[in-house]
Amino acid sequence: MNYEDLLNKEKIPQHIAIIMDGNGRWAKKKGQPRVLGHRAGVKTVRRITEACAKIGVKYLTLYAFSTENWNRPAFEVNALMRLLVETLNKEVKILNKNNIQLQTIGDLTGLPKRSKAAMEKAIEATTSNNRMRLTLALNYSGRWEIVEAAKTLAQKAIAGEINMADINEEAFSAALTTYDMPDPDLLIRTSGETRLSNYLLWQLAYSEFYFTPLLWPDFMENDLYEAIYTFQNRERRYGKTSEQLDE
Ligand code: FPP
Repeated sequence: MNYEDLLNKEKIPQHIAIIMDGNGRWAKKKGQPRVLGHRAGVKTVRRITEACAKIGVKYLTLYAFSTENWNRPAFEVNALMRLLVETLNKEVKILNKNNIQLQTIGDLTGLPKRSKAAMEKAIEATTSNNRMRLTLALNYSGRWEIVEAAKTLAQKAIAGEINMADINEEAFSAALTTYDMPDPDLLIRTSGETRLSNYLLWQLAYSEFYFTPLLWPDFMENDLYEAIYTFQNRERRYGKTSEQLDE
């Protein structure tokens, strides 16, 4: 089925968040080293980024490296970091051609110097693009981010810049790394896993979740459109009844 033609162009999600999972298993199935799975995963990143921009998604946020990923063998961590630098250097031109802005969330201070520098350079080079924002979550953890926001607010309270009464959901959202983005409408996770794995814990409170058994390197444009089609045919009630939504 071609899902692109079935999409309601008026109801394209503004923000899609993705947990790209299954690169390692994809490589293993082919008898290849895991790193080749990550290389194939980068190709999917390119495909899905361009597809999102094409249909009018405004924000795409990808879980590229979690805080927990440091626990992988050093060889794989190093390969991922090298791949990141290589990809960023190579893709900036394509991002500019497509008018896509690059951003990052996560604790960049924990990244190797070269990865951090490549990231900063790519962000700088794409800063004025405005068709879509591609955000890479790097050394990211939802709980870390929430704790950091709590510290920021506490600091301001101690300094007398805000009152206790000013600490509400809006102020909290504004203290997160995603302060200038809307919350994701749709979360996609590939490879059959059905966990959040510490991803955007605060921001996903009302998002629709879509899980697919496909491994990330096998996830094609049409699979993205199917996920969006499914999303469009679900009802988001935000705690209301169906009848109230019809009013
Ligand atoms: C999950 O597969 C994937 C990752 C932990 C990293 C994702 C990274 C990329 C797609 C490449 C780098 C990204 C950019 C944007 C340059 P897994 O290794 O957990 O797979 P498994 O669960 O099958 O082992």
